[in-house]
Formats: sequence, C-alpha cells, structure tokens
Amino acid sequence: MKMIKTMVMLAAFAMAAPISAETTEDAPTTPVDTPVDAPAVPATAEEIASGVCAGCHNADGNSVIPMNPILANQHAEYITKQLMDFKANGDEPPKRNSPVMSAMVAALSPEDMKELGAYYAKQKNIPSQIPANKKLVETGKILYHGGHLKDAIPACASCHGPTGAGIPPLYPAIAGQHAEYIVMQLEQFNKGERGGAHNNVMQQVISRMNAREKNAVSVYISTMH
Ligand code: HEC
Ligand code: HEC
Repeated sequence: MKMIKTMVMLAAFAMAAPISAETTEDAPTTPVDTPVDAPAVPATAEEIASGVCAGCHNADGNSVIPMNPILANQHAEYITKQLMDFKANGDEPPKRNSPVMSAMVAALSPEDMKELGAYYAKQKNIPSQIPANKKLVETGKILYHGGHLKDAIPACASCHGPTGAGIPPLYPAIAGQHAEYIVMQLEQFNKGERGGAHNNVMQQVISRMNAREKNAVSVYISTMH
C-alpha cells in the first residue's frame, strides 16, 4: 500500500515538474527525477567498429566480402560524410539508399561518425584478393587513365588520382576496392539512387558508360595497389 502511494506521488511530481520548474522552494527534495535510462558511457570508435561493424567490414575495415566495401585507409572525412549520407535528414530521404547501412547509422552520433572516420583512416589497407579477368583489366586500365574521348567519359584518374589514392576530402580512395562493390556503386550513381559531392559529378560520369565499360573499370580498380 505504501509503495503504491509513493508511486502515485512520484507520478504526480513528474507530471508537475515542467510547470513548477520556477518555484524552486516547492521542489521535492527526494530525487524523483532520476532518469530510468542513465546515459551509458559512450563507446569508442574501436568498440563500435569491432562490436557492430566487424561482421561485415572486419574489425580493421578490410572486408573480404565482395559486396561490402573495404574501409581501411579511406580518407576520414569521406567516411564521415558517407555515414551522414546513409542517414535520413528530417523528411528528406538519405542521399545513399542502403537499408542495411541506414539501420547501422541510426544510433550513431555526429561525433561517433567523426571518430569512426578517423579510426578506419588509420588502418592498414589490404587490397581486394578476388581474382580478376586479365582482358577486362586491360580494357579498364585504358578507361581509368585515359577516359573515352568519343563518349566524353573523363579519366577516373583526373579525380581519383593515377594510383587510385583519391584526393581528400572530396575524392575517395578507390584502389584495391572490391570490383563487385564498385559495380554496384556505379549502378546506383547511374540510377540516381546515390547522390554525392561535387554536383553529383559521379552520376554524370557514369551515365555515359555501358555495362562492359563499368565492369572493366571496376575490375581494374580492384587490382590497383
Ligand atoms: C550487415 C552488414 C553491415 C554492417 C554490420 C555494417 N555495414 Fe557498412 N556497409 C555494408 C554494405 C552492404 C555497404 C554498401 C552499401 C551500399 O552503398 O549499397 C556498406 C557501406 C559502408 C560505408 C560506405 C563506404 C564507401 O566506400 O563509400 C561505410 C563508411 C560503412 N559501411 C561503415 C560502416 C560502419 C561504421 C558500420 C558500423 C557502425 C557498418 N558499416 C556496419 C554492410 C554493413
Ligand atoms: C570530376 C571528378 C570525378 C571523376 C572524373 C570520377 N569521379 Fe568517381 N567520385 C567523385 C566524387 C566526388 C566521389 C564521391 C561522391 C560522394 O561523396 O559520395 C566519387 C566516388 C566514386 C566511387 C564511390 C567510392 C566508394 O567507396 O563508394 C567510385 C566507385 C568511383 N567514384 C569510381 C569512378 C570511376 C570508375 C571513374 C571513371 C570512369 C570516376 N569515378 C571518375 C569524383 C569523380
């Protein structure tokens, strides 16, 4: 009985709290407003990476699953920006359409995203080990470094660099990334499912490439070290 009475009193205090906030003299002395969910100590980027992300990207960001991107040694600012792009912004849909990653970033704070970027940026990169077709590599190499003048396809190297190391903060490193992931991204840019920096420049680049060209350039990139 006494317990129920206490609970009712607590409820009354809780409800009255916002209104009586100014009348401090009447404020209850008992700590009725102790939060039920005390804020947990924030996890470090390393803890998040090994506890949440490792299943798909490996703890050090060197994913061995061809659909999941390698994150190790990617530019910190780019990773942070991508994590933000997976998150819906108010009523606006996320810039990058990935139900899996959108679920992953839902619980991350902007600070977590910044720290995760810094964490993956300092990991040593292990390039994709998936075997590549030699002929495709040759075709892709020409496209990557020289583009295709007739179809107005610019050289990928002009923005992602001759070694594929990218130029921070805007242009991501792509050398050694899994070909399957790259093809998937090129398709997403093409369909407008992935927006991006620099006036959606990747969407313009990719709309002029056919399927064979996309495949060849992706396979070549996966072999770059
Ligand atoms: C269930 C598997 C899974 C988990 C767990 C996961 N990811 Fe991903 N991640 C993916 C897939 C798949 C993609 C590619 C999404 C796409 O664009 O379609 C991706 C893409 C990304 C990218 C974009 C990389 C780039 O090169 O643009 C980043 C950054 C990333 N993930 C970080 C994280 C972080 C940080 C966590 C942990 C909080 C995490 N991921 C957890 C599967 C996963
Ligand atoms: C004019 C500059 C420019 C050129 C040329 C260019 N890119 Fe990009 N690329 C970008 C930018 C900027 C981004 C990052 C978009 C974002 O923020 O999401 C990007 C992103 C990408 C990504 C996504 C990387 C990831 O980890 O998800 C791939 C793959 C890619 N480019 C491949 C290519 C290929 C292949 C070519 C040549 C056919 C090319 N790019 C030419 C500017 C360029």
